Amino acid sequence: MTFQRSLITAALPYANGPVHIGHLAGVYIPADIYARYLRLKGKKVLFVCGSDEHGVPVTIRARKEGITTQEVVDRYHSLIKRSFADFGISFDIYSRTTSETHHQFAADYFRRMYEAGQFVEQTSEQFYDPETGHFLTDRNIRGECPRCHAQGAYGDQCEKCGATLSPEELINPYNAETGNALTKKETKHWYLPLDQYQPWLEDWILNQHKEWRPNVYGQCKSWLDGGLKPRAVTRDLDWGIPVPVEGAEGKVLYVWFDAPIGYISNTIELCKAQPEKYGNWEQWWRQDDTRMIHFIGKDNIVFHCIVFPAMLKAQGYNLPDNVPSNEFLNLEGDKISTSRNWAVWLNEYLDDFPGKQDVLRYVLTANAPETKDNDFTWADFQARNNNELVAIYGNFINRALVLTGKYFEGRVPECGELTDYDRQTIDEFCHVKATLESLLENFRFRDAQKEAMNLARIGNKYLADTEPWKLAKTDMERTATILHLSLQIAANLAIAFEPFLPFSSEKLRTMLQMDAQIGWEDLGRIDLLQTDSTLGEVSLLFEKIDDSLIQGQLDRLARIKAENEKAAQEEALKNWRPSPIKADTTIDEFDKTDIRVATVLDCQPVKKSERLLQFSLDDGMGGRTILSGIAQSYPDPSVLIGKQVLFIANFPPRKMMGIESQGMILSAVDADGRLVVTTVSAPVKNGTQVG
Ligand code: 2FM
Ligand code: ZN
Repeated sequence: MTFQRSLITAALPYANGPVHIGHLAGVYIPADIYARYLRLKGKKVLFVCGSDEHGVPVTIRARKEGITTQEVVDRYHSLIKRSFADFGISFDIYSRTTSETHHQFAADYFRRMYEAGQFVEQTSEQFYDPETGHFLTDRNIRGECPRCHAQGAYGDQCEKCGATLSPEELINPYNAETGNALTKKETKHWYLPLDQYQPWLEDWILNQHKEWRPNVYGQCKSWLDGGLKPRAVTRDLDWGIPVPVEGAEGKVLYVWFDAPIGYISNTIELCKAQPEKYGNWEQWWRQDDTRMIHFIGKDNIVFHCIVFPAMLKAQGYNLPDNVPSNEFLNLEGDKISTSRNWAVWLNEYLDDFPGKQDVLRYVLTANAPETKDNDFTWADFQARNNNELVAIYGNFINRALVLTGKYFEGRVPECGELTDYDRQTIDEFCHVKATLESLLENFRFRDAQKEAMNLARIGNKYLADTEPWKLAKTDMERTATILHLSLQIAANLAIAFEPFLPFSSEKLRTMLQMDAQIGWEDLGRIDLLQTDSTLGEVSLLFEKIDDSLIQGQLDRLARIKAENEKAAQEEALKNWRPSPIKADTTIDEFDKTDIRVATVLDCQPVKKSERLLQFSLDDGMGGRTILSGIAQSYPDPSVLIGKQVLFIANFPPRKMMGIESQGMILSAVDADGRLVVTTVSAPVKNGTQVG
């Protein structure tokens, strides 16, 4: 099948906050590189995106900010749209799921599936807040994580340990907004019977799409191996698209049902607005000579590879040909998080680094989490800018242009006879086009950009080796040839980098006064610039970034980290509930544990241990030493000296850090994880038994 057109979709970001570097690196830069590349090759492309404005994240944001949900989505939709435009993400349309077109089309989609009998109705018990009279979605339920015991874990995930959870697993679940304890109540919903699609999905993905990235294929396989179950596509919520059938009052479409339909409704909106340019929307969604590629992050895989394809199949639309999904980008070693403000926000980046969109694009692609999670660090950002963009690419361009200005009045000098070294240099880059194409077509953007940078390296080395600034004193003809070739390499760089660094390529094209017709197909040629043609005004393509700017960013992150730690502690204290009572025991069982009173004679941190304190105790029986892992809760352990504490006397001795510990001091664990040693309220004899 030769494809006539490519429909490229990029996951619709939630309009619950600004977009950050994780969004760019994971989805939008790769999608943009691909769209730009195909357009440069003269292909028909439609690049669709928009804001995902339904779902719980936006309603949570509204309550947090004390504004209406509509105000939240209006604010963030325009902010996100502007950020994408600022970073050159070249969508053909960036619309929104609160649009009239989308509401209508998504409701129709549901109705058509409903009327075709493509849903099953099921009544089930869901978490319910009896005080507010609301059912709760997973995100709105919080409680203690069953894995790491952090307080405030969400019903779908624990942010502390990263575990994927279901609300049923949380210990003491409560309403995240009100803190109210929850009960269960019956409610009816419509389900997409994914189990019925299982055999078809297995064949379509596991047999026919073995070429998908291993992370995508692997996730699909494990979902399929686990056996698909029907999935609810409606919710009890008051924000979203009302379920358009009778008996569904107070219910809306599940955000993951409506959001991907947004790809279609946004196509419809665009095609209706510009039919001459984009044609009929159905050709993008129903014709099999259209190739669809979904760019997404790894948390979206199941929806784009299993749920949405089942919905598309049900209604006879095209299926994705590939779903390149990236892993996650971390920031300075920590998971990026909108709610914890642990991110580099695109709008703030541009305030701090005006005009440096391409630097961020470059660094995020160089470090793209294509095969595993990666870390963004400000030190790496600075190094890649200063040592690669400035020192290699920028330096080469600047030298070539400045020397041409100096010796040839800013005109492309004539190419004389080529030396072996010239030919060798040309040979080194004539394959660049084929290599780049193969990498780009396999969604290996990181390696593709590296290849483009290698071309700059070739140019930089060529100038460093041939030293035309020295030759100019003796051999102007040879100098002309060197600069002629250098300028041709520069023109190649403008093309090769165009999908990755569109702003710099445009600037370079202007400096070289390149013919606008020169496109991707010309890559690798050494006659892109005419001899004697005049160059434009020369300015630096990239500039060094100073330490002070980087330090400013690190200071900001340190402030946020401190604020987060304080907030997490407050949250834990606010929502703490006693853990459930353990299973029944007996007095005989209890009696086996020998708890006694002792006075602390001395208490010191154990050398080389962050955790341990060493207690010397008067236990009324000749004294003993006990080690206790509570050092972090007692920065000044001397406060414990003279106190009477409780300890377990009949634990067998145990060696830690070379010291023998003869028992265990009893402590209470506070809600924020702090340990408090239990003490006796009135003096008793040391060695007294507790029971
Ligand atoms: O994960 C997210 O940010 C979702 N808003 C992505 C939706 S993608 C698509 F289905 F619209
Ligand atoms: Zn956890």
